[in-house]
Amino acid sequence: MHAKALSDPVYLVKKQEADKATGGKLGLFCDTCHTPIGTMAGQTRTGKLSPQSREGVTCDFCHQVVGSEKHPPGDASQRLAADGTKRAQLKDAVAPTHASAFSAFHTKAEFCGACHNLKHPTTGVALDDTYDQWAQGPYASRGIVCQDCHMSPGPGEGPVVGRAGSMGPIRDNIYLMSFAGANVALGDPVRARANLTRAATLTLDVPEIVAQGEQGSVKVSVTNSGAGHRIPAGVSEIREMWLEVNAISVDGTKRALGRQQFGVVFKDAQGRYPVQLWDAVAVQSDTRIAPLDSFEASYALPMPEEERVTIEAVLNYRSFPDELAAKAGVENPVTVMASLERVVYASEQALRTARRDARRADSVLGSGGLLIPLGIAAVSIAVLLLLAAFLVRRRRRVAEQDDPFSAG
Ligand code: HEC
Ligand code: HEC
Ligand code: HEC
Ligand code: HEC
Repeated sequence: MHAKALSDPVYLVKKQEADKATGGKLGLFCDTCHTPIGTMAGQTRTGKLSPQSREGVTCDFCHQVVGSEKHPPGDASQRLAADGTKRAQLKDAVAPTHASAFSAFHTKAEFCGACHNLKHPTTGVALDDTYDQWAQGPYASRGIVCQDCHMSPGPGEGPVVGRAGSMGPIRDNIYLMSFAGANVALGDPVRARANLTRAATLTLDVPEIVAQGEQGSVKVSVTNSGAGHRIPAGVSEIREMWLEVNAISVDGTKRALGRQQFGVVFKDAQGRYPVQLWDAVAVQSDTRIAPLDSFEASYALPMPEEERVTIEAVLNYRSFPDELAAKAGVENPVTVMASLERVVYASEQALRTARRDARRADSVLGSGGLLIPLGIAAVSIAVLLLLAAFLVRRRRRVAEQDDPFSAG
């Protein structure tokens, strides 16, 4: 996604809208993070971008950063030493084409926060507060930084043994420059899906029995169990994360019991919402889930005229509203972050029947479980016997041939 920061079609659509709304003033501001080199070189003003500027958030930019102008970091607060020396966490790097230096700053979340923390330039509303959310959360106090999750297989996982450069030595641990987040459509889909499915866990409590025509209640919780910041993170007002709770009849028909959307909604000076980033003067609502925190809700379950009903809870994510994806001409796949199913019965009788059927299926499987090893044993013994008979006969024949006094 860093390599695409400037060419990203969704970014280009949004930047165009921002420019249109502000008479062309905002686009330059957007580019400060989406092409930091183009901005520093003054190329975004002239519109003549070098190939390096078009690389978006590129190697040369990140590896010449030496610190942040402010704390907490944000709004492109990096300090740069544009001297060609490449800086990172390695203390002994030797490169044939450039000078290298050790930088402790590259191992810190503040390095990322310089861009992943964005305030509205005039109203001060937090438009993307991923760094702040991390800093206030439990991961910061445990010393787990962005790099541990987005440049490594995950906290406590790894290490990644390998070479940091094609001619370098094999190292005990290196970092990956893949920076996968949640964007399945434009980023690395495998890594993005893995992030999404590790981010959240669900619980679903249902009553065992609800009589037909009565009303039961199902309890659902969504826990942010794997992300170091609120979910959905980043530019949360365009991200879509939602919980669906459905009742599924025996014939497969689905009925919605409840739905919850998670995200940030901004309002404008007239109190209208939702509004675009540039019109935001305040947050109207924030339903994102903080790290290790949970959303909990109960939904009414009117029991249909059926023996049983299956309750499902599904947590979904997609990077964009469909309308925005269509405008940008990008696919917009929905990823299931987590899902669970439970069955509710209409009577003690229906529950008992289901349990008996399950036990029966179990015992059939159970005897099958015994039959299989027995079968394997029988076949093995038969094969061994055959092999033994064959060997004995062959020995006999060989012995016959070797015997100079035999038949011939
Ligand atoms: C968004 C900023 C960013 C971009 C873009 C980026 N890097 Fe890195 N890179 C880092 C950070 C941060 C570290 C150190 C991670 C740590 O120690 O926690 C690092 C570490 C490294 C290292 C040290 C060895 C290792 O992998 O552990 C090398 C080499 C490297 N990067 C090369 C590159 C190259 C080549 C590119 C372009 C293809 C690139 N980087 C793009 C931020 C970046
Ligand atoms: C120079 C600014 C800059 C720096 C520094 C930076 N990023 Fe980014 N990052 C961006 C921009 C801009 C995007 C969005 C690109 C897009 O979607 O078009 C992005 C995208 C991402 C994504 C992909 C999000 C998704 O939706 O999938 C991840 C993950 C990410 N950054 C992590 C990091 C981490 C971790 C660091 C620190 C090691 C870091 N970034 C440092 C600017 C930056
Ligand atoms: C404990 C692991 C962990 C840490 C620490 C962490 N993240 Fe994430 N991050 C995740 C997971 C998992 C996701 C996918 C779920 C989601 O979208 O929030 C994610 C998603 C993201 C996204 C994409 C959000 C979206 O929906 O577009 C960005 C950008 C991001 N992280 C940046 C950061 C930055 C910057 C930091 C440090 C300030 C950081 N992360 C710290 C695990 C982590
Ligand atoms: C302070 C740095 C910064 C500035 C300034 C900035 N962005 Fe971003 N932008 C980011 C980061 C970091 C991400 C990645 C967050 C995420 O993945 O959710 C991002 C992601 C995006 C995305 C999501 C792209 C995708 O494919 O998922 C859009 C759209 C976007 N920015 C538009 C804008 C517009 C329009 C402006 C100007 C009004 C702007 N940005 C200004 C840092 C910045």
